Amino acid sequence: MTTTAHTPALTGEEIVALTRKHTIFEWSAQAKVDPIPVARAKGVYFWTPEGKRYLDFNSQLMCVNVGHGDPRVVKAIQEQAATLAYANPFMATEPRARLGAKLAELCPGDIDVFFFTNGGSEANENAIKIARAYTGRHKVLARYRSYHGATAGAMTLTGDPRRWPSEPGMPGVVHVLDPYHGIERGWDTAEQSLAMLEEVIQLEGPQTIAAFFLESVTGTNGILIPPPGYMQGVRALCDKYGILMVADEVMAGFGRTGEWFAINHWGVVPDLICMAKGLTSAYVPLGAVGMRRKIAGHFQERPFPGGLTYNSHPLACAAALATIAAYEEDDMIGNAKRMGAVMKDLLGGLEAKHPSVGAVRSIGLFGIVELVRDRGTRQPLAPFGGTSDEMVALGRFFRQEGLYTLVRWNAFYTNPPLCITEAELREGFAVIDRALAQTDRAVS
Ligand SMILES: Cc1ncc(COP(=O)(O)O)c(C=O)c1O
Repeated sequence: MTTTAHTPALTGEEIVALTRKHTIFEWSAQAKVDPIPVARAKGVYFWTPEGKRYLDFNSQLMCVNVGHGDPRVVKAIQEQAATLAYANPFMATEPRARLGAKLAELCPGDIDVFFFTNGGSEANENAIKIARAYTGRHKVLARYRSYHGATAGAMTLTGDPRRWPSEPGMPGVVHVLDPYHGIERGWDTAEQSLAMLEEVIQLEGPQTIAAFFLESVTGTNGILIPPPGYMQGVRALCDKYGILMVADEVMAGFGRTGEWFAINHWGVVPDLICMAKGLTSAYVPLGAVGMRRKIAGHFQERPFPGGLTYNSHPLACAAALATIAAYEEDDMIGNAKRMGAVMKDLLGGLEAKHPSVGAVRSIGLFGIVELVRDRGTRQPLAPFGGTSDEMVALGRFFRQEGLYTLVRWNAFYTNPPLCITEAELREGFAVIDRALAQTDRAVS
């Protein structure tokens, strides 16, 4: 079968039929999936084979941060493929060498040693192993409103309902409550939340706890930006009890929040940092776990307890280097901050205008709109873990109008590529404004 970018051999309908017949779509009952056929993409847009254009307001899966079809990343992948597509992980290659050194430059504090993986789940999986090996303890704390991945250990860390079908999971994982309790109950202060965390640490036995995993800004569970003092308080508690603080930056890292890493907003240095997605902007799969010097030192004389055939894959390392260079060349992290300020105003405008908007939150180009039936009771427009006719209709409207974004439970997300212009951002918000006229009708 031969295809070119502009004349695909299969129609959109044929692509959908074959993918549905022979492949599995994740997290879904297969009879219910209704995928968009995608043929090509450029900048903040992608197209179906028939030429319908979508504005990508979710950077696919909050990962194509650099934007679609960046020629600098494409060229780096092409050149690396032609030179050395693969070398096994016991070899040392130039892209691996350069990427380790570059990440050491970018990461907070003294995090300057990296283990490369295929994605975010495996980064977290290896972070669990590292924390257990370093501390000699076995328990791991994580939060309920979280997603850490779908491999066995990362799935157990995950707090949201995606964990339920995989239970029982890995022994030793304990979940703690977040500062946020949903649209109806709202937020705890940092002090309240930290007191609850310390109580759990004491009840579990601090000497048994290896690590606390947390998303620096929680992604699919609601763009939850920690209240002032929370991150610093977590750092202090981890120090007090000898627990490793593990920042999961798989979604929030690489400029999404207007900083290289979201944790930088609070001036905190975690012990381990997990990354993927924006590391290569998903052009090639790659994840990494970064560790502070003292932790890397633990493995100088003891074997590192992990390995992967595709660890430090040259193609992926080359893609990461080119992606990072593109962020720097175009100041995309700065653009995320500048466009983030515009997006915050646009989100505020929606909240002021539309009664169905119960809350908006954003940091950089990481945004969410939570919808309610009633602004007094703040009853969500769909229940926790579920959906409703109104939310389904909202998703349908976005699709008809050529706006692609994640619609989940009672919320939808605004996470465009970091190269977005103000005009493109406003184009997306104009569609959202029209869509919310529909959800407003559900408000009592
Ligand atoms: C915060 C966070 N951690 C981990 C993961 C898992 O990463 P992957 O799907 O690359 O394994 C994700 C994926 O969405 C994520 O958002």
